[in-house]
Amino acid sequence: MQLLKYSSVATFVVLLATVNALPHVAKTGLSARGSNIPTQVIAGVTVPDTPIVKAAQAYARAHSDDMTFNHVMRSWLFGAIIINKNATQRAAIDPETHAVAALLHDLGWDNTGELISEDKRFEVDGAIAAWNFIDTAILNGTAHGWDENRKQLVWDTIALHTTPTIFAYKQPVVAMTAVGIFSDFQGPNSDMSHTLTWDEYTRVTGAFPRHDLGPSVSKIICGFGRTKPATTYDTWMMPFGDRYVENYTQEAKGHLAIDLVQGALPN
Ligand SMILES: *[C@@H]1O[C@H](CO)[C@@H](O)[C@H](O)[C@H]1NC(C)=O
Ligand SMILES: *[C@@H]1O[C@H](CO)[C@@H](O)[C@H](O)[C@H]1NC(C)=O
Ligand SMILES: *[C@@H]1O[C@H](CO)[C@@H](O)[C@H](O)[C@H]1NC(C)=O
Repeated sequence: MQLLKYSSVATFVVLLATVNALPHVAKTGLSARGSNIPTQVIAGVTVPDTPIVKAAQAYARAHSDDMTFNHVMRSWLFGAIIINKNATQRAAIDPETHAVAALLHDLGWDNTGELISEDKRFEVDGAIAAWNFIDTAILNGTAHGWDENRKQLVWDTIALHTTPTIFAYKQPVVAMTAVGIFSDFQGPNSDMSHTLTWDEYTRVTGAFPRHDLGPSVSKIICGFGRTKPATTYDTWMMPFGDRYVENYTQEAKGHLAIDLVQGALPN
């Protein structure tokens, strides 16, 4: 089954063009810190190894099944590989902010259920959970140099990571974290930066096996179509509901943006 349709050549070219048109955002000064923080090498990829990154890894592990944990780890590593190859992005992106955003991006489908709301789409649940995680880390001394701006970047990254038509135009860390996540679905075929190699892909998937990523994510999204369908209307999740969830399509009627617009008051 095809999970995401971004493999169509036309769409791919458009996405690639948007990514190449990316960030003209000024350096934040975080890159200087980025070059001085402790690092570790995971599956051949150099990534930061700070208290908040360790805590984010542990938090992701505690709130993910094996499939999801390996997916967020690979998303982080693919993003780091891609960013490290581009001097502009390397200078613009704080690796700790990238790590926290990538590791926590799927908290909205937390397998313990604790972080899942009844009324918000999963990307927003994830963004809020990550925000709260960072607040706790600031209070207990795990987060060093975290301000509102970095927290907001993590929030935006997680909230927008499924919306390439917006994330591609956001700050470099928002855009490239999402590019790393996208590249996990189809490897180099869905890498919008077109720089990930199959060797790198194989090395990372060897260390963090894919399990059943495609069918599992499909099942999770169908679950939202059943348990909180209103959070999926008019989003990329809607086709899962249309195709696989009983009565979804008829129940969506009257709750869509098209209904709002076509029912607009006359002049
Ligand atoms: C590096 O990234 C910048 C910003 O996204 C982009 O404009 C540029 O084309 C990239 N360079 C290469 C060689 O891919
Ligand atoms: C501090 O907060 C982080 C983030 O919530 C958490 O992972 C970590 O366990 C906490 N550490 C202590 C000592 O409370
Ligand atoms: C779907 O709608 C039909 C007709 O209204 C109803 O009989 C059926 O129970 C519904 N199924 C679910 C899962 O809600």
